[in-house]
Amino acid sequence: MQSEQFEVRRDSLAETRVVSARLPNLVDGEILTRVDRFALTANNITYGIVGEKLGYWKFFPVESGWGIIPTWGFADVVASRHPDVATGERLYGYFPMATHLVMRPGKLKESRLVDISDHRAELPLVYNAYMRTGEESAFDASMEDERMLLMPLYATSFCLYDFLQDNDYFGASQIIVPSASSKTAIGLAYALKEDVGSRVCIGLTSPGNRSRVAELQLYDKVVTYDELSAIDETQPTVIVDMSGNGALLSDLHALLGDNMKYTSNVGVTHYDANKMGPHFIRERSAMFFAPAHIQKRTKEWGPGEFEKKAYRFWYDASIKSREWLVIERHDGMDTLGRVYSRLLAGKVSPDKGIIVSL
Ligand SMILES: NC(=O)c1ccc[n+]([C@@H]2O[C@H](COP(=O)([O-])OP(=O)(O)OC[C@H]3O[C@@H](n4cnc5c(N)ncnc54)[C@H](OP(=O)(O)O)[C@@H]3O)[C@@H](O)[C@H]2O)c1
Repeated sequence: MQSEQFEVRRDSLAETRVVSARLPNLVDGEILTRVDRFALTANNITYGIVGEKLGYWKFFPVESGWGIIPTWGFADVVASRHPDVATGERLYGYFPMATHLVMRPGKLKESRLVDISDHRAELPLVYNAYMRTGEESAFDASMEDERMLLMPLYATSFCLYDFLQDNDYFGASQIIVPSASSKTAIGLAYALKEDVGSRVCIGLTSPGNRSRVAELQLYDKVVTYDELSAIDETQPTVIVDMSGNGALLSDLHALLGDNMKYTSNVGVTHYDANKMGPHFIRERSAMFFAPAHIQKRTKEWGPGEFEKKAYRFWYDASIKSREWLVIERHDGMDTLGRVYSRLLAGKVSPDKGIIVSL
């Protein structure tokens, strides 16, 4: 039997190829999973952009120079040489853009296992852990699409909201969110909207996405990238940035000056505009990495507490998201190639949720 995987050139993400191989024979302790479906958003493109720096190429290593971008999805166990993992089990977690994945389960709990393969040993637990959905008490099969698409992003939104609260909004009275149409930003906007004690939230987006963002009615104000003068620069401000747009951040920092209290660098949706401009205030800006925040809260709140809160948040926000989210399904390697190119070029409308089956 053959497996197929979708690979990209690490230094040129537009170059792709499909590689077929014979499925390897399992050794004791291993399982073979058949990837069923996975979601694609700008977050996956970012995994490729920062793959070298943050280790994302290490999850599913291939020939030097090439890489497999990780995704969130579901897979079924189709062969097992592990005594406690049965064929037919369904797993949710981090899977390659490929038909199959060989894993080495360890640290088994009733509803969770960890891939303890040597090459993943140094990588964050949130990516190495898989949920065994058949054993999950709260498992809801009707939410599988939202789980792949929104759980990783809304868990980050929840982290960002928690981080802002924990720091008393850095003394700010307004929050600016560039790339406000992104799902991670929308999740944050849901959290802020629910909280009467939060701050004024301004969504910044491109002119083409303005009306869609405004229709959500989640941001107090929606401003496009070419009308920064509509921002009240006299207000102490915190920026939660999904765009990574260097010129934009520089312009915002120049406009706000001392009122720019803090910038959280969360994402790089505008990855091809990431050269920092001259007014960027580095000393009040820092990268945000959700797995690190989750690790901190797990230590402080105790095991499982973060997951419980984030799950509740994701569930409620996902139900609300059904009002605007349109699932777009794709099947097979050829269509994956096409939708991946659209995503890379920023040509996927923000209300679309891409789900791929191979
Ligand atoms: N630090 C962390 O731990 C963490 C965790 C989760 C996500 N993130 C990051 O948050 C960001 C948002 O991810 P997401 O999955 O929520 O995004 P998404 O929903 O797919 O966002 C789509 C939006 O991003 C902008 N965009 C996407 N591709 C673009 C391109 N090629 N050129 C210009 N703009 C483009 C557009 O927004 P506008 O027109 O509004 O700009 C577009 O509507 C990603 O960079 C992701 O990696 C970070």
